[in-house]
Amino acid sequence: MKTQVAIVGAGPAGLLLGHLLRAEGIDCVIVERASADYVLGRIRAGVLEQITVQLMERIGLDARMKAEGLPHDGFNLADGDRLIRIDIHALTGKRVMVYGQTELTRDLMAACEERGLQVVYDASDVTLHDVDSDSPSITYAKDGASHRIDARFICGCDGFHGPSRKAVPAAVGSAFELVYPFGWLGILADVPPCNHELIYANHERGFALASMRSETRSRYYVDVPVTEKVEDWPDERIWDELATRLGPEAAAHMTRGPSIEKSIAPLRSFVFEPMRHGSLFLAGDSAHIVPPTGAKGLNLAASDVHYLSSALIGYFKAADHDGIAGYSSRALARVWKSERFSWSLTKLMHRFPSDGAFERRMQLAELDYIAQSETARRAIAENYVGLPL
Ligand code: APR
Ligand code: PHB
Repeated sequence: MKTQVAIVGAGPAGLLLGHLLRAEGIDCVIVERASADYVLGRIRAGVLEQITVQLMERIGLDARMKAEGLPHDGFNLADGDRLIRIDIHALTGKRVMVYGQTELTRDLMAACEERGLQVVYDASDVTLHDVDSDSPSITYAKDGASHRIDARFICGCDGFHGPSRKAVPAAVGSAFELVYPFGWLGILADVPPCNHELIYANHERGFALASMRSETRSRYYVDVPVTEKVEDWPDERIWDELATRLGPEAAAHMTRGPSIEKSIAPLRSFVFEPMRHGSLFLAGDSAHIVPPTGAKGLNLAASDVHYLSSALIGYFKAADHDGIAGYSSRALARVWKSERFSWSLTKLMHRFPSDGAFERRMQLAELDYIAQSETARRAIAENYVGLPL
Protein backbone atom coordinates (compact mmCIF):
# COMPACT_ATOMS: atom_id res chain seq x y z
CA MET A 1 0.00 0.00 0.00
CA LYS A 2 1.18 3.59 -0.65
CA THR A 3 -0.03 6.65 1.25
CA GLN A 4 1.15 10.17 2.05
CA VAL A 5 1.19 9.85 5.87
CA ALA A 6 1.36 6.63 7.88
CA ILE A 7 0.30 7.05 11.52
CA VAL A 8 1.30 4.54 14.20
CA GLY A 9 -1.25 4.36 17.02
CA ALA A 10 -5.02 4.94 17.11
CA GLY A 11 -5.25 6.68 20.46
CA PRO A 12 -6.50 10.27 20.70
CA ALA A 13 -3.33 11.69 19.10
CA GLY A 14 -3.33 9.37 16.10
CA LEU A 15 -7.07 9.61 15.51
CA LEU A 16 -7.16 13.41 15.86
CA LEU A 17 -4.21 13.77 13.47
CA GLY A 18 -5.77 11.38 10.97
CA HIS A 19 -9.07 13.27 10.93
CA LEU A 20 -7.36 16.66 10.54
CA LEU A 21 -5.32 15.38 7.56
CA ARG A 22 -8.26 13.60 5.92
CA ALA A 23 -10.35 16.77 6.25
CA GLU A 24 -7.76 18.43 3.99
CA GLY A 25 -7.76 15.54 1.50
CA ILE A 26 -4.41 14.17 2.60
CA ASP A 27 -4.07 10.39 2.28
CA CYS A 28 -3.25 8.68 5.57
CA VAL A 29 -3.54 5.28 7.24
CA ILE A 30 -3.46 4.50 10.96
CA VAL A 31 -1.90 1.22 12.13
CA GLU A 32 -2.94 0.18 15.65
CA ARG A 33 -1.51 -2.72 17.61
CA ALA A 34 -4.63 -3.41 19.67
CA SER A 35 -8.36 -3.76 19.07
CA ALA A 36 -10.77 -0.82 19.05
CA ASP A 37 -12.27 -2.14 22.30
CA TYR A 38 -8.85 -2.15 23.94
CA VAL A 39 -8.24 1.46 22.91
CA LEU A 40 -11.62 2.44 24.34
CA GLY A 41 -10.93 0.50 27.53
CA ARG A 42 -7.87 2.61 28.43
CA ILE A 43 -8.30 4.69 31.61
CA ARG A 44 -8.19 8.36 30.69
CA ALA A 45 -8.70 11.72 32.40
CA GLY A 46 -11.63 14.05 31.94
CA VAL A 47 -10.56 17.66 31.35
CA LEU A 48 -10.21 19.27 27.89
CA GLU A 49 -8.40 22.54 27.21
CA GLN A 50 -9.85 24.99 24.71
CA ILE A 51 -7.35 23.83 22.02
CA THR A 52 -8.73 20.31 22.20
CA VAL A 53 -12.33 21.54 22.00
CA GLN A 54 -11.42 23.76 19.03
CA LEU A 55 -9.79 20.88 17.13
CA MET A 56 -12.91 18.75 17.64
CA GLU A 57 -14.99 21.71 16.40
CA ARG A 58 -12.71 22.06 13.34
CA ILE A 59 -13.38 18.47 12.28
CA GLY A 60 -17.06 18.74 13.18
CA LEU A 61 -16.96 16.07 15.90
CA ASP A 62 -17.88 18.27 18.86
CA ALA A 63 -21.65 17.60 18.97
CA ARG A 64 -21.70 14.97 21.74
CA MET A 65 -19.03 16.83 23.73
CA LYS A 66 -21.18 19.97 23.63
CA ALA A 67 -24.32 17.99 24.52
CA GLU A 68 -22.85 15.87 27.33
CA GLY A 69 -19.72 17.75 28.42
CA LEU A 70 -19.66 20.15 31.37
CA PRO A 71 -18.06 23.59 30.75
CA HIS A 72 -16.22 24.60 33.92
CA ASP A 73 -15.34 28.19 34.89
CA GLY A 74 -13.05 27.20 37.73
CA PHE A 75 -11.54 24.56 39.95
CA ASN A 76 -10.43 24.37 43.60
CA LEU A 77 -7.27 23.75 45.58
CA ALA A 78 -7.74 22.53 49.16
CA ASP A 79 -5.27 22.53 52.05
CA GLY A 80 -7.17 20.28 54.44
CA ASP A 81 -9.27 23.08 55.91
CA ARG A 82 -10.58 25.33 53.14
CA LEU A 83 -11.26 25.44 49.41
CA ILE A 84 -9.25 27.96 47.37
CA ARG A 85 -11.18 28.61 44.16
CA ILE A 86 -9.25 29.37 40.97
CA ASP A 87 -11.77 31.31 38.87
CA ILE A 88 -10.22 30.46 35.51
CA HIS A 89 -12.90 32.23 33.47
CA ALA A 90 -12.66 35.52 35.38
CA LEU A 91 -8.85 35.32 35.38
CA THR A 92 -8.29 34.23 31.75
CA GLY A 93 -11.59 34.61 29.88
CA LYS A 94 -11.40 30.89 29.04
CA ARG A 95 -13.04 27.71 30.33
CA VAL A 96 -12.19 24.01 30.40
CA MET A 97 -14.55 21.25 29.25
CA VAL A 98 -15.10 18.29 31.57
CA TYR A 99 -15.73 15.40 29.17
CA GLY A 100 -14.27 11.91 29.44
CA GLN A 101 -11.26 11.60 27.15
CA THR A 102 -12.45 8.07 26.46
CA GLU A 103 -15.66 9.60 25.08
CA LEU A 104 -13.59 11.95 22.91
CA THR A 105 -11.66 8.91 21.62
CA ARG A 106 -14.97 7.17 20.96
CA ASP A 107 -16.23 10.15 18.96
CA LEU A 108 -13.04 10.18 16.87
CA MET A 109 -13.19 6.42 16.34
CA ALA A 110 -16.86 6.36 15.36
CA ALA A 111 -16.31 8.88 12.55
CA CYS A 112 -13.41 7.09 10.84
CA GLU A 113 -15.41 4.99 8.37
CA GLU A 114 -17.74 7.77 7.20
CA ARG A 115 -14.76 10.12 6.81
CA GLY A 116 -12.64 7.60 4.88
CA LEU A 117 -9.96 7.44 7.59
CA GLN A 118 -8.51 3.92 7.38
CA VAL A 119 -7.51 2.33 10.69
CA VAL A 120 -5.86 -1.10 10.76
CA TYR A 121 -6.52 -2.64 14.20
CA ASP A 122 -4.86 -5.75 15.64
CA ALA A 123 -1.64 -5.12 13.69
CA SER A 124 1.32 -6.98 15.21
CA ASP A 125 5.09 -6.60 14.79
CA VAL A 126 4.70 -3.02 13.60
CA THR A 127 8.14 -1.95 12.39
CA LEU A 128 9.34 1.37 11.01
CA HIS A 129 11.87 1.39 8.17
CA ASP A 130 14.14 4.01 6.55
CA VAL A 131 12.87 6.91 8.66
CA ASP A 132 16.07 8.81 7.71
CA SER A 133 15.05 8.70 4.03
CA ASP A 134 12.35 10.44 1.96
CA SER A 135 10.69 7.06 1.43
CA PRO A 136 10.05 5.47 4.81
CA SER A 137 7.76 2.49 5.30
CA ILE A 138 5.94 0.50 7.95
CA THR A 139 5.58 -3.27 7.97
CA TYR A 140 3.19 -5.25 10.14
CA ALA A 141 1.53 -8.62 10.41
CA LYS A 142 -2.23 -9.23 10.46
CA ASP A 143 -4.37 -12.31 9.88
CA GLY A 144 -1.27 -14.39 9.23
CA ALA A 145 -0.01 -12.16 6.40
CA SER A 146 2.77 -9.54 6.22
CA HIS A 147 1.87 -6.05 5.06
CA ARG A 148 3.88 -2.97 4.01
CA ILE A 149 2.86 0.68 3.84
CA ASP A 150 5.07 3.09 1.89
CA ALA A 151 4.61 6.72 2.93
CA ARG A 152 6.26 10.13 2.60
CA PHE A 153 6.06 10.66 6.35
CA ILE A 154 5.48 8.49 9.44
CA CYS A 155 3.81 9.98 12.53
CA GLY A 156 4.53 8.10 15.75
CA CYS A 157 1.39 8.44 17.91
CA ASP A 158 2.02 5.11 19.60
CA GLY A 159 2.28 6.22 23.21
CA PHE A 160 5.01 5.75 25.76
CA HIS A 161 5.62 2.07 24.96
CA GLY A 162 5.38 2.23 21.16
CA PRO A 163 8.20 1.64 18.63
CA SER A 164 8.37 5.10 17.04
CA ARG A 165 10.51 6.89 19.64
CA LYS A 166 12.88 3.92 19.55
CA ALA A 167 13.32 4.45 15.78
CA VAL A 168 15.22 7.67 16.52
CA PRO A 169 18.95 6.81 16.69
CA ALA A 170 20.34 6.86 20.24
CA ALA A 171 23.02 9.33 19.14
CA VAL A 172 20.30 11.77 18.06
CA GLY A 173 17.73 11.43 20.84
CA SER A 174 17.74 12.74 24.43
CA ALA A 175 15.33 11.61 27.15
CA PHE A 176 14.51 13.56 30.32
CA GLU A 177 12.62 11.71 33.07
CA LEU A 178 11.42 12.10 36.65
CA VAL A 179 9.59 9.20 38.31
CA TYR A 180 7.42 10.17 41.30
CA PRO A 181 7.44 8.14 44.55
CA PHE A 182 3.67 7.60 44.49
CA GLY A 183 0.84 6.59 42.17
CA TRP A 184 -2.80 7.63 41.85
CA LEU A 185 -5.47 5.22 43.00
CA GLY A 186 -8.55 6.11 40.97
CA ILE A 187 -12.17 5.13 41.57
CA LEU A 188 -15.16 5.59 39.24
CA ALA A 189 -18.66 5.45 40.77
CA ASP A 190 -22.19 6.26 39.67
CA VAL A 191 -22.75 8.83 42.40
CA PRO A 192 -23.20 12.62 42.07
CA PRO A 193 -20.01 14.69 42.43
CA CYS A 194 -19.30 16.21 45.86
CA ASN A 195 -18.73 19.62 44.25
CA HIS A 196 -19.78 21.17 40.93
CA GLU A 197 -16.09 21.87 40.17
CA LEU A 198 -12.89 19.84 40.59
CA ILE A 199 -11.07 19.84 43.93
CA TYR A 200 -7.32 19.11 44.16
CA ALA A 201 -6.45 18.61 47.85
CA ASN A 202 -3.15 18.51 49.75
CA HIS A 203 -3.92 17.08 53.20
CA GLU A 204 -1.53 15.94 55.95
CA ARG A 205 -2.35 12.38 54.86
CA GLY A 206 -1.74 13.06 51.17
CA PHE A 207 -3.28 14.10 47.86
CA ALA A 208 -6.88 13.70 46.74
CA LEU A 209 -8.78 14.78 43.62
CA ALA A 210 -12.55 15.03 43.26
CA SER A 211 -13.52 15.02 39.59
CA MET A 212 -16.48 13.84 37.54
CA ARG A 213 -17.71 12.43 34.23
CA SER A 214 -21.27 13.80 34.48
CA GLU A 215 -23.72 15.02 37.11
CA THR A 216 -24.36 11.40 38.08
CA ARG A 217 -20.91 9.83 37.66
CA SER A 218 -17.88 10.80 39.78
CA ARG A 219 -14.17 10.17 39.42
CA TYR A 220 -11.95 10.38 42.53
CA TYR A 221 -8.25 9.81 43.20
CA VAL A 222 -5.94 9.50 46.22
CA ASP A 223 -2.18 9.19 45.98
CA VAL A 224 -0.70 5.95 47.36
CA PRO A 225 2.85 4.56 47.66
CA VAL A 226 3.96 2.82 44.47
CA THR A 227 4.09 -0.44 46.40
CA GLU A 228 0.32 -0.45 47.07
CA LYS A 229 -2.00 -2.94 45.37
CA VAL A 230 -5.60 -2.24 44.37
CA GLU A 231 -6.75 -5.24 46.39
CA ASP A 232 -5.44 -3.47 49.53
CA TRP A 233 -8.03 -0.72 48.93
CA PRO A 234 -11.63 -1.85 49.38
CA ASP A 235 -14.13 0.85 48.41
CA GLU A 236 -14.91 1.88 52.01
CA ARG A 237 -11.23 2.53 52.71
CA ILE A 238 -11.03 4.79 49.66
CA TRP A 239 -14.20 6.70 50.58
CA ASP A 240 -12.91 7.20 54.15
CA GLU A 241 -9.58 8.49 52.86
CA LEU A 242 -11.24 10.80 50.35
CA ALA A 243 -13.56 12.25 53.04
CA THR A 244 -10.54 13.01 55.24
CA ARG A 245 -8.24 14.41 52.56
CA LEU A 246 -10.81 16.51 50.66
CA GLY A 247 -11.78 18.33 53.84
CA PRO A 248 -15.04 18.79 55.78
CA GLU A 249 -16.90 20.88 53.18
CA ALA A 250 -16.42 18.34 50.38
CA ALA A 251 -16.92 15.38 52.72
CA ALA A 252 -20.27 16.74 53.81
CA HIS A 253 -21.48 16.60 50.20
CA MET A 254 -19.79 13.34 49.19
CA THR A 255 -22.05 10.46 48.15
CA ARG A 256 -20.55 6.99 48.52
CA GLY A 257 -21.29 4.06 46.24
CA PRO A 258 -19.81 0.90 44.71
CA SER A 259 -16.80 1.41 42.40
CA ILE A 260 -17.34 0.48 38.75
CA GLU A 261 -13.64 0.92 38.04
CA LYS A 262 -10.65 1.03 40.40
CA SER A 263 -6.96 1.15 39.40
CA ILE A 264 -3.54 2.52 40.37
CA ALA A 265 -1.49 4.50 37.82
CA PRO A 266 2.18 5.46 38.27
CA LEU A 267 3.27 9.09 37.84
CA ARG A 268 6.19 10.27 35.76
CA SER A 269 7.39 13.35 33.90
CA PHE A 270 9.09 12.46 30.62
CA VAL A 271 10.21 14.33 27.51
CA PHE A 272 12.04 12.99 24.44
CA GLU A 273 13.89 15.32 22.09
CA PRO A 274 13.77 15.80 19.15
CA MET A 275 10.14 15.20 18.11
CA ARG A 276 11.22 14.86 14.49
CA HIS A 277 13.93 12.74 12.88
CA GLY A 278 14.09 12.67 9.07
CA SER A 279 10.64 11.60 7.86
CA LEU A 280 9.46 10.53 11.34
CA PHE A 281 7.44 12.83 13.62
CA LEU A 282 6.45 12.05 17.23
CA ALA A 283 3.24 13.36 18.82
CA GLY A 284 1.50 12.75 22.14
CA ASP A 285 2.66 10.23 24.70
CA SER A 286 5.25 8.80 22.29
CA ALA A 287 7.25 11.98 22.97
CA HIS A 288 6.17 13.07 26.46
CA ILE A 289 4.37 12.05 29.64
CA VAL A 290 3.05 14.36 32.35
CA PRO A 291 1.74 13.54 35.83
CA PRO A 292 -2.08 13.82 35.67
CA THR A 293 -2.15 16.64 38.25
CA GLY A 294 -2.60 19.27 35.57
CA ALA A 295 -4.81 17.16 33.24
CA LYS A 296 -2.31 17.90 30.47
CA GLY A 297 -1.79 14.47 28.84
CA LEU A 298 -4.36 14.51 26.07
CA ASN A 299 -4.30 18.30 25.78
CA LEU A 300 -0.55 18.29 25.09
CA ALA A 301 -1.14 15.61 22.46
CA ALA A 302 -3.75 17.95 20.94
CA SER A 303 -1.28 20.85 20.69
CA ASP A 304 1.33 18.55 19.11
CA VAL A 305 -1.30 17.44 16.59
CA HIS A 306 -2.31 21.04 15.91
CA TYR A 307 1.29 21.93 15.01
CA LEU A 308 1.97 18.69 13.12
CA SER A 309 -1.22 18.70 11.06
CA SER A 310 -0.61 22.34 10.06
CA ALA A 311 2.96 21.49 9.05
CA LEU A 312 1.95 18.45 6.97
CA ILE A 313 -0.95 20.29 5.31
CA GLY A 314 1.47 23.11 4.43
CA TYR A 315 3.91 20.60 2.95
CA PHE A 316 1.42 18.68 0.81
CA LYS A 317 -0.82 21.58 -0.25
CA ALA A 318 1.56 24.55 -0.48
CA ALA A 319 5.02 22.93 -0.82
CA ASP A 320 5.83 24.75 2.44
CA HIS A 321 8.72 23.02 4.20
CA ASP A 322 9.03 25.50 7.09
CA GLY A 323 6.28 23.88 9.17
CA ILE A 324 7.85 20.43 9.19
CA ALA A 325 11.30 21.92 9.73
CA GLY A 326 10.08 23.87 12.75
CA TYR A 327 7.69 21.26 14.21
CA SER A 328 9.97 19.77 16.85
CA SER A 329 11.17 23.05 18.35
CA ARG A 330 7.67 24.58 18.21
CA ALA A 331 6.00 21.58 19.88
CA LEU A 332 8.74 21.17 22.49
CA ALA A 333 8.46 24.82 23.57
CA ARG A 334 4.86 24.15 24.67
CA VAL A 335 5.63 20.64 25.95
CA TRP A 336 8.27 21.91 28.37
CA LYS A 337 6.00 24.66 29.72
CA SER A 338 3.23 22.12 30.32
CA GLU A 339 5.73 19.75 31.91
CA ARG A 340 6.78 22.54 34.24
CA PHE A 341 3.19 23.31 35.26
CA SER A 342 2.30 19.66 35.83
CA TRP A 343 5.48 19.10 37.82
CA SER A 344 5.00 22.23 39.93
CA LEU A 345 1.34 21.47 40.71
CA THR A 346 2.36 17.91 41.62
CA LYS A 347 5.07 19.25 43.95
CA LEU A 348 2.60 21.67 45.54
CA MET A 349 -0.23 19.20 46.07
CA HIS A 350 1.50 15.96 47.11
CA ARG A 351 3.34 14.88 50.29
CA PHE A 352 6.73 13.56 49.13
CA PRO A 353 8.32 10.91 51.40
CA SER A 354 11.58 12.88 51.31
CA ASP A 355 9.84 16.08 52.48
CA GLY A 356 10.21 17.19 56.10
CA ALA A 357 8.36 19.70 58.27
CA PHE A 358 9.96 22.63 56.48
CA GLU A 359 8.80 21.48 53.04
CA ARG A 360 5.28 21.00 54.47
CA ARG A 361 5.33 24.58 55.71
CA MET A 362 6.46 25.74 52.27
CA GLN A 363 3.46 23.99 50.69
CA LEU A 364 1.03 25.53 53.17
CA ALA A 365 2.61 28.97 52.73
CA GLU A 366 2.32 28.71 48.93
CA LEU A 367 -1.34 27.68 49.19
CA ASP A 368 -1.95 30.59 51.58
CA TYR A 369 -0.23 32.95 49.11
CA ILE A 370 -2.42 31.63 46.27
CA ALA A 371 -5.51 32.17 48.44
CA GLN A 372 -4.54 35.80 48.96
CA SER A 373 -3.00 36.74 45.58
CA GLU A 374 -4.98 37.19 42.39
CA THR A 375 -1.64 37.31 40.54
CA ALA A 376 -0.75 33.85 41.85
CA ARG A 377 -4.20 32.52 40.95
CA ARG A 378 -3.96 34.02 37.44
CA ALA A 379 -0.61 32.28 36.87
CA ILE A 380 -2.16 28.95 37.82
CA ALA A 381 -5.31 29.63 35.80
CA GLU A 382 -3.51 30.50 32.54
CA ASN A 383 -1.51 27.28 32.73
CA TYR A 384 -4.52 25.15 33.65
CA VAL A 385 -6.68 26.35 30.72
CA GLY A 386 -3.68 25.90 28.38
CA LEU A 387 -1.01 28.37 27.34
CA PRO A 388 -1.39 30.10 23.96
CA LEU A 389 -0.32 28.02 20.94
N1 APR B 1 2.04 -0.54 16.96
C1 APR B 1 0.86 0.11 16.76
N2 APR B 1 0.21 0.79 17.73
C2 APR B 1 0.80 0.81 18.94
C3 APR B 1 2.03 0.17 19.22
C4 APR B 1 2.64 -0.53 18.16
N3 APR B 1 3.79 -1.19 18.34
N4 APR B 1 2.35 0.41 20.53
C5 APR B 1 1.36 1.15 21.04
N5 APR B 1 0.42 1.40 20.10
C6 APR B 1 -0.86 2.10 20.26
C7 APR B 1 -1.52 1.82 21.60
O1 APR B 1 -2.22 0.59 21.58
C8 APR B 1 -2.44 3.03 21.76
O2 APR B 1 -3.73 2.78 21.25
O3 APR B 1 -0.65 3.50 20.24
C9 APR B 1 -1.75 4.12 20.92
C10 APR B 1 -1.20 5.25 21.79
O4 APR B 1 -2.32 5.90 22.38
P1 APR B 1 -2.19 6.60 23.83
O5 APR B 1 -1.33 5.77 24.70
O6 APR B 1 -3.59 6.91 24.28
O7 APR B 1 -1.37 7.92 23.54
P2 APR B 1 -1.84 9.26 22.81
O8 APR B 1 -2.74 9.01 21.66
O9 APR B 1 -0.60 10.03 22.61
O10 APR B 1 -2.78 9.93 23.93
C11 APR B 1 -2.29 11.01 24.65
O11 APR B 1 -4.37 10.95 25.90
O12 APR B 1 -6.05 10.25 27.35
C12 APR B 1 -4.78 10.72 27.26
O13 APR B 1 -3.61 9.87 29.13
C13 APR B 1 -3.74 9.76 27.75
O14 APR B 1 -1.69 10.99 27.90
C14 APR B 1 -2.48 10.22 27.02
C15 APR B 1 -2.98 11.13 25.94
C1 PHB C 1 -10.22 13.01 35.74
O1 PHB C 1 -11.38 13.46 35.75
O2 PHB C 1 -9.96 11.79 35.55
C2 PHB C 1 -9.06 13.96 35.99
C3 PHB C 1 -9.32 15.31 36.09
C4 PHB C 1 -8.27 16.19 36.31
C5 PHB C 1 -6.98 15.70 36.44
C6 PHB C 1 -6.72 14.33 36.33
C7 PHB C 1 -7.77 13.45 36.11
O3 PHB C 1 -5.95 16.56 36.68
